[in-house]
Amino acid sequence: MEDQAVARQQTMLDEVLGGLRKPQKRIPSKFFYDRRGSRLFEEITELEEYYLTRTEISILETHIDEIARAIGSRAVLIELGSGSSRKTRLLLDRLPSLVSYHPVDISEQYLEEVARQLSVDYPDLSIQPICADYTSRFEIPDSPSDYREQVFFYPGSTIGNFRPGEAHDFLKNVAARADQEAALLVGVDLKKDRTILEAAYNDENGVTAEFNKNILVRLNRELDADFDPDKFRHNAFYNEEKGRIEMHLVSEHKQEVKIDGERILFHEGESIHTENSYKYSVEEFGDLVKDWFSVEQVWLDENRYFSLQYLVKR
Ligand code: AVJ
Repeated sequence: MEDQAVARQQTMLDEVLGGLRKPQKRIPSKFFYDRRGSRLFEEITELEEYYLTRTEISILETHIDEIARAIGSRAVLIELGSGSSRKTRLLLDRLPSLVSYHPVDISEQYLEEVARQLSVDYPDLSIQPICADYTSRFEIPDSPSDYREQVFFYPGSTIGNFRPGEAHDFLKNVAARADQEAALLVGVDLKKDRTILEAAYNDENGVTAEFNKNILVRLNRELDADFDPDKFRHNAFYNEEKGRIEMHLVSEHKQEVKIDGERILFHEGESIHTENSYKYSVEEFGDLVKDWFSVEQVWLDENRYFSLQYLVKR
């Protein structure tokens, strides 16, 4: 293994063990996205119940002219957590003068695969992938001097994975790392009827349950753990007071699991909290960003399920 990969694995072990030693056990949701996890997430985005992706895409398609105008000419586009870059293609198709595109993603193989395909489909575009955990530090390579502004793209309501305080800090970091003139095009899922929210995280086909349990499969492989994923049950619900979907893996029995030699005990019914997915009103989100960004434009779908927001650094 490369030094960098060894260091990343050690960090992952520390973060996972740190979370599993807490009274409410937890595993950071960024660890969902190994190769299989990324593929399962892509499958989730195709589900009938999972309205988020298709709604965001329809907003992008409907308002693409205004969005392209907001981004303007000769931008450097930096996507945080690029995954399949599927939505980005809609932007790339409309931004011929883009100076460069930097997909940032933690999933190395997938990042390279996607970047390779993009360079085939956009031969004139400079594509420079950055393999990094964008929630910690990462370097933006120097852009050619003729660019006009940096635009960060953070779609999918991934910002909902942070608690509001963390989201506030994250936005501060993005603003600090960005040029003086920079913008953030961000997708934000909105508050709505809990039946719709809960269905999106409890699909009939059990893909979300598979996605949730896959994190254990990954820990087994990468951190020498011995979870039996069949002894855990997927549980996802809307916590209205906190304004978030919570995903948990609930231990079906009393059991003991080993990770890197350390024993972790579970009582029957005890859960590992694997994800938060915060939902905001447009107003709440404006409040959250206001120290660092001003909200320039907000695009919504007709049901007001989802929003795409253009924020400008203050
Ligand atoms: C990619 C974080 C936006 O919270 O809806 C999908 C991840 N988890 N189904 C979300 C997810 C369960 C997704 N985000």
